[in-house]
Amino acid sequence: MNEETFDKLEEIQQNEFIKAAIDRVGAGVVISDPEQEDNPMIYCNKGFEDLTGYKAEEILGKNCRFLQGEDTSSQMVDKIRKGLSNYENVLVELKNYKKDGTMFWNELQIFPVYIQQMDQNFFVGVQRDVSQRREQQELIGHYLSEVKRLSTPIVPLEEGISVLPLVGTFDEERLNEMLDSVSHHVKESKEDFLIIDMSAVHAYNEAVHMGIYQMNQLLDLMGTTLIITGIKPSFAIQSAPYADFSELSLQSYASVKQALNAVRGR
Ligand SMILES: Cc1cc2nc3c(=O)[nH]c(=O)nc-3n(C[C@H](O)[C@H](O)[C@H](O)COP(=O)(O)O)c2cc1C
Repeated sequence: MNEETFDKLEEIQQNEFIKAAIDRVGAGVVISDPEQEDNPMIYCNKGFEDLTGYKAEEILGKNCRFLQGEDTSSQMVDKIRKGLSNYENVLVELKNYKKDGTMFWNELQIFPVYIQQMDQNFFVGVQRDVSQRREQQELIGHYLSEVKRLSTPIVPLEEGISVLPLVGTFDEERLNEMLDSVSHHVKESKEDFLIIDMSAVHAYNEAVHMGIYQMNQLLDLMGTTLIITGIKPSFAIQSAPYADFSELSLQSYASVKQALNAVRGR
């Protein structure tokens, strides 16, 4: 065996070794050639075939956009196009479709690779199916918004009167959510009175004081009267540094029952 043949054989064996290694990567790996018309795929590993259901011979020579479909974000595709045109690394998550039409979330990484011996640039793309993670994130998001919704339970008592029992602890985020859902509710149902019952609030912090103050201003603008019930005597003293309640015409009663009687007898 002459030296050149030996070198060739070694190169092939090395390539085979690399190919076998890349095939075992638990992700899709593709290489595209941007010097050819429409940047076609010139290589894909077994991970890509397993992920997408396509065989290499069906897809080599095509641009990778065949994985996109109806619900693929055009913003993400724009981001890829922009990245590729500048020969920059790209990292996106977008909806792609397998051969059988099943949608999957593709965490796609693309990076340019310059091969010196060939004096040519290629792109390497790595695809990971992150559908499970996305589903979990969506589920968490759903439950979080459900918890938020449940933490501002506005209960209609009778025509034009609703009560909002405050429970738990308050911070700025919860205060903003509360203001949001109250303004939404009042806009929809055009309440005359909103009773905020504070008997289950044990500690008055800045968010509670600011919440009442801002709620009063908001409801005033919307033509709804705010009534506070279950307030503890310490509230007025503690609120002094945060908000001046003296100028507000807040109606306050010991209990929701008393407030209802007063409103009914108006
Ligand atoms: C190496 C490489 C791998 C790619 N892999 C995917 C892929 O898995 N899914 C996808 O939607 N797009 C993929 N693309 C992006 C598309 O091929 C194409 O660049 C993109 O749709 C933007 O171009 P267009 O607006 O001409 O379609 C890949 C691109 C390259 C260069």
